[in-house]
Amino acid sequence: MRTGLISGVILVTLVFTFPAFCVLQDSLAAEPETSVKGDRMLQLESGKFPPVPFPHHLHQAKLNECNVCHNMFPQSPGAIKDLQGKGVLEKQAVMNENCIACHKDREQAGEASGPLSCMECHIR
Ligand code: HEC
Ligand code: HEC
Ligand code: HEC
Repeated sequence: MRTGLISGVILVTLVFTFPAFCVLQDSLAAEPETSVKGDRMLQLESGKFPPVPFPHHLHQAKLNECNVCHNMFPQSPGAIKDLQGKGVLEKQAVMNENCIACHKDREQAGEASGPLSCMECHIR
């Protein structure tokens, strides 16, 4: 009888605090737009060419901006393939206009940069 009452009280307490807990979690999840997100390392498919291991978090941290890349494709897994499939994005456009363009500009400016040769990006 007594234990029934106590567990009843605990149950009622849980039922009433659970929504508050969810609200707290939501507010913790609302991070600023430029905080590090997604997987640390992505594998970018390149058709018959070997895939490209892409250090996503390194770029997020170094560039401190999302839209230098995500103006070409949304922040979702497989976004590049999706747009290529719909014919909205040319194959190799991201590679040439985004990856290589930035690496080349930075190298010419004498800044820290990334690979420019095929096999440094397309790794078997
Ligand atoms: C240097 C380029 C670049 C920058 C800068 C960049 N991303 Fe990405 N991001 C990518 C690429 C490439 C993909 C993979 C798209 C695909 O799979 O087709 C991706 C995928 C994602 C994904 C989905 C995959 C996953 O890991 O969950 C999220 C979420 C994401 N980016 C968030 C961000 C946020 C937030 C920022 C800024 C803090 C950012 N990105 C900055 C290139 C970049
Ligand atoms: C900085 C990294 C990087 C370098 C350097 C690079 N690639 Fe790529 N490549 C990519 C990425 C990422 C993709 C996938 C996105 C796209 O198609 O734009 C890709 C896609 C491709 C594709 C498209 C295959 C398909 O059918 O979808 C080919 C072919 C290719 N690369 C060949 C090359 C050759 C040849 C070189 C050297 C002259 C080279 N890549 C240098 C990153 C790179
Ligand atoms: C706006 C500029 C910018 C864009 C766009 C960009 N990168 Fe980079 N990338 C960098 C910089 C800066 C570094 C050097 C970071 C460091 O080590 O300080 C780098 C380094 C790298 C490295 C070497 C990482 C290491 O561990 O040394 C790889 C691989 C790479 N990038 C691939 C890519 C691919 C693939 C894309 C396109 C999806 C891309 N990058 C787009 C700026 C860019």
